[in-house]
Amino acid sequence: MRVFLGITGASGAPYAARLVQALGRAECEVGLCASRAGIEVLRTELYGDERLSADEALARLVEPVRDSVTLYDEQDWSAPYASGSARVLVLMPRETPLSAIHLEAMLKLRQAGAVVLFLAPGFYHGAETVGDLVDFMVARCLDQLGIEQGLVREWGAAKPPVRASGPGERVWGNREAPPASREEPR
Ligand SMILES: Cc1cc2nc3c(=O)[nH]c(=O)nc-3n(C[C@H](O)[C@H](O)[C@H](O)COP(=O)(O)O)c2cc1C
Repeated sequence: MRVFLGITGASGAPYAARLVQALGRAECEVGLCASRAGIEVLRTELYGDERLSADEALARLVEPVRDSVTLYDEQDWSAPYASGSARVLVLMPRETPLSAIHLEAMLKLRQAGAVVLFLAPGFYHGAETVGDLVDFMVARCLDQLGIEQGLVREWGAAKPPVRASGPGERVWGNREAPPASREEPR
């Protein structure tokens, strides 16, 4: 499956990092583009290093799955993907509070067929770490794309799924990783 991931300048870089990893591991062909502000957020929230060049920040982001990802410049990303053949557009806003302009824009996108997947993680799956909350949202995105997710237990599932990633795996660039998830499989 081909998936294009656009990263803008709102807080939430750990979501992007985890999603890139999950898409790569699901053997998707991933196109990725980050706006200038998006790069700034990656630098700040993942790597804590404002001197990183855009290329360095993106290289670190895709490093775990680099063979699956094609990077596009802000100016030329759309060409391979703008053919109209996209089956689903998933918008993942994080901003809060939402203004009337945000709400109107999201309504228009929804009416045009986009999925508005607000970055509002649930807690019912027994989240213990920030990484668990990130995984919750990444799993919901994978659901929308029709990609099987092994990150988070489904509501009502009798048995926990096998994790798609190893325990304690870093989604956090060079920053101190959050406390590792429970060791036992979930
Ligand atoms: C670490 C970091 C986090 C940011 N988070 C937000 C945010 O959550 N919401 C927002 O409106 N702007 C945020 N900003 C500011 C935007 O990046 C900035 O307004 C930018 O111009 C948005 O441009 P874009 O729409 O091209 O991504 C953040 C900036 C940085 C450096």
